[in-house]
Amino acid sequence: MPLPETLAHRFPADFIWGVATSSFQIEGAAREDGKGESIWDRFCQAPDAILDASNGDVACDHYHRLDSDLDLIASLGVTAYRFSVSWPRVQPKGAGTWNAKGLDFYERLVDGLARRGIQAHLTLNHWDLPQALQDRGGWTERDTMSRFVDYALAMNRRLGDRVAAITTHNEPWVIAVLGHEQGNFAPGLKSRKTALQVAHHLLVSHGMAVQALRADGCRSQLGIVLNLSPMVPATDSPQDHAAALKADAAGRRWYTDPLFLGAYPQEVMAELGADAPVIHPGDMAHIAAPIDYLGVNYYTRQVISAGEPFDNKTSGLPLTEMGWEVYARGLTDLLLLLHRDYQLPDVLITENGGAFKDPLSDGRVQDADRVDYLRTHIAAVADARDQGVPMRGYMVWSLMDNFEWSSGYTKRFGIVHVDYATQTRTLKDSALWYRDFLRACRGPQPVGAGA
Ligand code: FCB
Repeated sequence: MPLPETLAHRFPADFIWGVATSSFQIEGAAREDGKGESIWDRFCQAPDAILDASNGDVACDHYHRLDSDLDLIASLGVTAYRFSVSWPRVQPKGAGTWNAKGLDFYERLVDGLARRGIQAHLTLNHWDLPQALQDRGGWTERDTMSRFVDYALAMNRRLGDRVAAITTHNEPWVIAVLGHEQGNFAPGLKSRKTALQVAHHLLVSHGMAVQALRADGCRSQLGIVLNLSPMVPATDSPQDHAAALKADAAGRRWYTDPLFLGAYPQEVMAELGADAPVIHPGDMAHIAAPIDYLGVNYYTRQVISAGEPFDNKTSGLPLTEMGWEVYARGLTDLLLLLHRDYQLPDVLITENGGAFKDPLSDGRVQDADRVDYLRTHIAAVADARDQGVPMRGYMVWSLMDNFEWSSGYTKRFGIVHVDYATQTRTLKDSALWYRDFLRACRGPQPVGAGA
């Protein structure tokens, strides 16, 4: 295996290295200190919604373990921490009254990061919409966009001076398609028309928030996070090629074209018929408001076939516990494709990682497969950077094992192992590897500068 130094030398000294989490997946304290109900609190109660019938009531109990978790993050030597704010914790009904105790929690979080010399990367919407807004239509309603802008401004006024970057939405495709078309994520709706309208409102509200934050003098970097994969045809047949192009247009360009070109892909729009979203005058200009960075969440490629769906097990590539192929080259391919098609702003890999088996034995988790995953994907980022993509940072998903949405606690993505019965955190081999790698990135330290 190449030494960490060899890979570290491929990155500039100011490259941002982080770990990522989200509020619902780690905080717990679901009904404490005035927090309101979120759509994920509600969704977890639906029969069969969550694989192990679990919920986010306790999760990693991060709400009660903030200081020791911040020490844990600092012990890795990262320069950035990506987290999200639970909107219903700071504004229980998503409109009106603010919750002082909830705001205090995030205040302590950003102060704690600042004290430890770690950049705060704050995501406003990592899916846990206040249930009270869902009761009024949620993201199907234009009014939710205005509520979101109010929330963004309030967070900036309270925390902005200590936050390096603010992401509006995490993975609008997932909210729209898994949440409103396939129904396996909150709020569990099943209509393509609804999903397309929701996706549009997420994008417009993103742009509205960016513009409002800038007008308000916000000095944080502003961006959005998308889940992206290269769409690879299953065979060389013209049918599979056409199917891959179509999937790319509907699943990726539907988001990146409006953000960077100001228009939805025409060929997709032409096929939507009555399912096409209602677009108001000015919406497209909002969506295309200039951003400082694009956040890319990358896990795997998508293999597209015109016939029967492609079976990952036949590809010969290693699969993670999610059944996702390990395919690092896809990250370089994806970044080069984006760089070719758009004038990209800075690019951050805001999530990358894998779920593996991870048995804890004798206080150790020997997750060689995750070490390999991280090493090859970080090299893929360096390859894209070498070819001119404006790469600025990389964050591992995730800091620690956590509530993996409809998979509950059955899938472990952390570089830190969590024993949910005792809430003990144990650094896996991958965390030790990342720590050593980041040490190599910092280079030799002057005598007396500490570790
Ligand atoms: C992404 C989510 C993140 C996590 C990973 C595995 O889609 O943004 O919260 O669940 O997948």
